[in-house]
Amino acid sequence: MNPRTFLLLFWSLLTVLSLPVRAAYVWIPSAPAQEVEARLTRVQSEPVSHKAAIAAGKKAAFFCANCHGESGVSALDHVPNLAGQNAFYLLAQIDKFGDGRRKDDFMSGLVKVLKPEERFNIAVFYASQPVPPTLVKNKFQAVAGKKHFARTCVGCHGVKAYGTREVARLAGQREGYLVTALRDYRKGDGVRSDSRMTGVAQKLSDPEIAALAIYLGSLP
Ligand code: HEC
Ligand code: HEC
Repeated sequence: MNPRTFLLLFWSLLTVLSLPVRAAYVWIPSAPAQEVEARLTRVQSEPVSHKAAIAAGKKAAFFCANCHGESGVSALDHVPNLAGQNAFYLLAQIDKFGDGRRKDDFMSGLVKVLKPEERFNIAVFYASQPVPPTLVKNKFQAVAGKKHFARTCVGCHGVKAYGTREVARLAGQREGYLVTALRDYRKGDGVRSDSRMTGVAQKLSDPEIAALAIYLGSLP
């Protein structure tokens, strides 16, 4: 571990450990969904503001890079890629970690130290980065996953699995992370709760989840 990484991890530990002490902390939502959506659309369509938001987001995301990768392409199978993900979806997930609708010991504490402006810029930055697909490990499973996806998931996630504002991009996502996410929705214990996904996930078997994850991870 190089000294910089060590310092960052040490800092993060302090930050997370000190959160319960700051009992007075009140989570500030990014902004009403419609407002955020309008602003994202505007910023992403104006080259000058887009560039500025990307630069500010890259700076604000220096710490996130330790796990999510320098440009949002994760090197760890249980950590999701953020590159190429829809900005609106990213921001919505940060808000969900912040107010408890989504639970992860580390992420739930971490997002609370991000100011709304930092969250916005970070989302714009990651959304603008390209994501490389992984190689297919098992063709047979990938074919099964493809069929299942076409039958059950395309309606919301789209033919290319790029998602929409509210629906996650799945193309090129880390396989291990996809498996965890689908199992979390299936369990229905509040770690991940979205009625559109929990209903779908409850019908999936373990082999189906494995096949879907292999197929989706391999998409460009
Ligand atoms: C110590 C490693 C670590 C660091 C540092 C980290 N994350 Fe995460 N992040 C994770 C893991 C693990 C998950 C998956 C959690 C789960 O299973 O729900 C995650 C999930 C996410 C998600 C949800 C993605 C999706 O596809 O739904 C977002 C958004 C996110 N992180 C943003 C950030 C931001 C922004 C930062 C920096 C401020 C950051 N993370 C720093 C480990 C990390
Ligand atoms: C009715 C619409 C709908 C259908 C059908 C659907 N999804 Fe989703 N999916 C969503 C939404 C909305 C989200 C974001 C939910 C959230 O905020 O947690 C999501 C999120 C996900 C995630 C989490 C991604 C991440 O980055 O964390 C995975 C994995 C996923 N879907 C896989 C699938 C698969 C596989 C299928 C088919 C078996 C499927 N979905 C069918 C709407 C849908």
